[in-house]
Amino acid sequence: MYENPRLILDSSNPPEPGSITWRSPSNIALIKYWGKYGQQLPQNPSLSLTLASSCTDTMLEYAFKEEGDNGKIDLEFFFHAEPNEAFQAKTQAFLESLLPLFPFLKQLKLTIQTGNSFPHSAGIASSASGMSALALCLCSLEDALFGTLQDAGAFDRKASYIARLGSGSACRSIFSHAAVWGETPLVAGSSNEFAVPVGDQVHEMFKDFHDDILIVSQDEKTVSSRDGHALMDGNPYAEARYAQARQRLGALLDAMRTGDLATFGKIVEDEAMTLHALMMCSNPSYTLMRPNTLAILEKIRAYRAETSHPVYFTMDAGPNVHLLYPGDIVHEVRAFIEDELKELCEDGYVQQDWVGEGPEEL
Ligand code: DP6
Repeated sequence: MYENPRLILDSSNPPEPGSITWRSPSNIALIKYWGKYGQQLPQNPSLSLTLASSCTDTMLEYAFKEEGDNGKIDLEFFFHAEPNEAFQAKTQAFLESLLPLFPFLKQLKLTIQTGNSFPHSAGIASSASGMSALALCLCSLEDALFGTLQDAGAFDRKASYIARLGSGSACRSIFSHAAVWGETPLVAGSSNEFAVPVGDQVHEMFKDFHDDILIVSQDEKTVSSRDGHALMDGNPYAEARYAQARQRLGALLDAMRTGDLATFGKIVEDEAMTLHALMMCSNPSYTLMRPNTLAILEKIRAYRAETSHPVYFTMDAGPNVHLLYPGDIVHEVRAFIEDELKELCEDGYVQQDWVGEGPEEL
């Protein structure tokens, strides 16, 4: 869709060296993307809240290759100021796969400096923030060199499309507050190829919403998201699951429009449990929840029953629990975390996060 052989630099008029930096956040899915086909296309639409404090800063430096292009990506890569071979190889392969879309990349020497606002080992997925930051840098670079992405909507759509090719869930991080990725008659302009913003279609309270991430384990996952998605292909419940996600998206959007927190919470928790149930009934079966994950879920349910506070959980493909609640009860909930949940977290680690304004160019 974005292949463009005309994006080639004129060697008689080479650009000055320069750099571009973006800060991009993670996001938490409320309706989960789980199962894909083709080139990173989702089997069902998903909806997420865009976070604020869990983010990646990426600086892309570029200089014209005076010696001429050798058809290859010329990349130096630093993670928290250190060379990192694994990330370098992954990024190099990703940029090579993007050459039909950004052919000028092979005419440049590139240096990427990247780092996360959260500890790398914390078990917080960094692919959404990392891939969205990189996609934004690439689109800004295209615009700086060719002036082709002046329209803000066109820029965001392309950045979301490129982010999706890097990691599906990353395409939702481009937008402030909330985003939907995947074609659905419920959201005008929605697409399987990129996400669209829905922050202006939901109740104001979701702009002041918290997501405190309770880190149960920092160990590497036993089954990656990539492998987990692939296992959906043989899952006997797959088709029923995709239909359920579509139905839940409609119900969740209604609840978010009206600010019906009880319905919101019920759907969000059902989605988290469904995601993990799908893992348990994959072949081979696996579990990513740990004993303390379940202990935390029980504590949250008990606290809600006792206080009637609208505090809900979700989980991504890992053992950690995301605690979701509106801003007006932040003091009560932080005390609950301190008193009852911290002791169930590895090293007592909790990453405080909240709904944010989306990426920013630095
Ligand atoms: C459970 O986006 O990490 O967090 O497309 O293979 O990179 P790839 O997968 P990824 O999957 C995320 C799965 C999820 C749900 C979600 O974010 O919607």
